[in-house]
Amino acid sequence: MNPGALLAWAAEHGRDLPWRRTRDPWGVLVSEVMLQQTQVARVVPRWSAFLDRFPDVDTCAAVPLADVLREWQGLGYPRRARNLHAAATVVVEEHDGRFPDDLDGLLALPGVGPYTARAVLAFAHERDVAVVDTNVGRILARQHGTRLTPKEAQGAADLLVPAGEGWAWNQAVLDLGAMVCGKRVAACDRCPVRSTCAWRGGPGDDPAEGSAAVSGRQAPFEGSDRQARGRLLAALAEGPVRADRFAAVVDRDAATADRLAATLVEEGLVEWGDVGELRLHGDRNRT
Ligand code: ADE
Repeated sequence: MNPGALLAWAAEHGRDLPWRRTRDPWGVLVSEVMLQQTQVARVVPRWSAFLDRFPDVDTCAAVPLADVLREWQGLGYPRRARNLHAAATVVVEEHDGRFPDDLDGLLALPGVGPYTARAVLAFAHERDVAVVDTNVGRILARQHGTRLTPKEAQGAADLLVPAGEGWAWNQAVLDLGAMVCGKRVAACDRCPVRSTCAWRGGPGDDPAEGSAAVSGRQAPFEGSDRQARGRLLAALAEGPVRADRFAAVVDRDAATADRLAATLVEEGLVEWGDVGELRLHGDRNRT
């Protein structure tokens, strides 16, 4: 892949996204965690709102998880909110409120995996590391013309980062994946790195299918446990709910409703109160 061609393309066509204007590791971490499972357009307003409410790790670590879950309402996959709250707490309690700026320190934070740790290094600390998410994995597989294991994908990506351009390079690759080299539609005619691509849109099978870091389809939301859990959390955001109301709240049979409530307890998102009511975790002062 020709790094200069991709950087030049991104300088002209790249997206102007709000989290690209910060180098604050907390702001970057929040954006990356939101973007893991939520579309860019939906993340934009929620990222700003979340940081207005929790501008730094101290503010976030100082509140009960319940308050973070309330701010997270509607974004889905609420374990992400729990992990952010837990990460803020670790940074405050174990790092004096200062974010780790090395891979191992970041990987030790709750909910921070290889992708997110490198994203914080590249986008907050402007380090020359390569981030490999589903988009990057797809581009690499197509460029190479073969399926790649996670190790091969990371290794190939690491070799590409131009010295001193880690920030711009990784944003450029993400833009290419979002704007040109799409999962279902590859707009190869306007691709800045077409000349080095082994696949170029086919006719052969897409090498990205089944390759490392390339996700399959999301299961349908309607009728899912995810939907029902979201309904229960939305109700709990308003205040505690007694067990005999679960089924009505989630619109499922009682056994399913109880099972889903138990999963939320197990994941540390909610807890039982003193008089048989369920509440958001740490939501002690609401009745
Ligand atoms: N997806 C993950 N990280 C991103 C970023 N920094 N910009 C756009 N999309 C992303």
